[in-house]
Amino acid sequence: MPIMNWDQTLDIGVPAMNADHRDILDVMNEIFDAHEAGQEGDIINRLVSRLGAVCTRHFADEEAFMEKVDYPGLNSHKLIHKKLLEDFSGHAAAVKAAGGKANEEFFGFLKRWLVAHIRGIDSKYAEHANSSLSVANG
Ligand SMILES: [Fe+2]
Ligand SMILES: [Fe+2]
Repeated sequence: MPIMNWDQTLDIGVPAMNADHRDILDVMNEIFDAHEAGQEGDIINRLVSRLGAVCTRHFADEEAFMEKVDYPGLNSHKLIHKKLLEDFSGHAAAVKAAGGKANEEFFGFLKRWLVAHIRGIDSKYAEHANSSLSVANG
């Protein structure tokens, strides 16, 4: 069972960023499935590292996209990404210190930040990008 399924409420209307968000969700679900199957140790640690890499890459791509569309909230969004990666590193270190054992707290963090960030924060640059696009095309 996945920790979370993709649904329309996560669709921000920017296809490339939606695709990244789905990739992030896929890795989260992979970690959750492995955990549910009783896995711990290197398998979990490797998946957690992969999630960190996928998020780091996505944040960089997203920041480049926001720059391209002249999003006025770029700087504060960058700071939020930075803080998320710091928090993620803390959680990843805790999983590692526990011998590659994920727990409820870890999954709660992932789920909360994914949903809150996409719906509350990412949706804002998407709105900006899509409204500038309609102005340019209209
Ligand atoms: Fe973001
Ligand atoms: Fe994002």
